[in-house]
Amino acid sequence: MNVRSAKISDAETIYALVSDYAEQDKMLFRSKADIYENLRSFVVAEADGKVVGCCALHIIWQDLAEIKSLAVYDGFKGTGIGRSLVTEALRQAGELGLKRVFALTLEPAFFQKMGFELIDTDKLPMKVWSDCARCPKQQSCDETAVIKDIS
Ligand SMILES: CC(C)(COP(=O)(O)OP(=O)(O)OC[C@H]1O[C@@H](n2cnc3c(N)ncnc32)[C@H](O)[C@@H]1OP(=O)(O)O)[C@@H](O)C(=O)NCCC(=O)NCCS
Repeated sequence: MNVRSAKISDAETIYALVSDYAEQDKMLFRSKADIYENLRSFVVAEADGKVVGCCALHIIWQDLAEIKSLAVYDGFKGTGIGRSLVTEALRQAGELGLKRVFALTLEPAFFQKMGFELIDTDKLPMKVWSDCARCPKQQSCDETAVIKDIS
């Protein structure tokens, strides 16, 4: 398994992977245009030459970034791919000079295994909530905020 920055040729697979989980209400849907515009924020995991997982590092502000669209294909779950994707996203965050990385997730226990801590959503800046405007759940948000200090 190999984790690397995404290439243009990965966009369709990322779209399919994210759409699959979005349809199950497990993450926010992302349009192809959104994925192409933000392709440079994505890392992907490859197994036998095929993309089997993805993760995006979205910069919010000078000291804060968000992990978004973390997804591993069903048949490859539980084999360390999610960990490798998050580890690479955190490495890139550190290289960029960011201090904290957070995620809004339905899988807080996974992120806790990665060293993230639960945080009260009110402690995150307003800018974080821009995605909420296009989320069908809006007022009935069921995500948990987790954060990791990488400084
Ligand atoms: C959550 C997800 C990314 C985890 O990926 P994965 O490749 O299965 O995870 P890994 O195999 O790297 O697991 C790393 C560790 O986390 C644990 N873990 C994995 N999923 C977990 C979960 N849902 N709850 C608690 N612990 C979990 C593993 O047991 C492993 O622990 P270990 O190091 O003690 O063995 C994957 O299940 C997924 O794509 N889920 C659907 C989409 C989703 O919910 N994404 C998160 C949205 S932010």
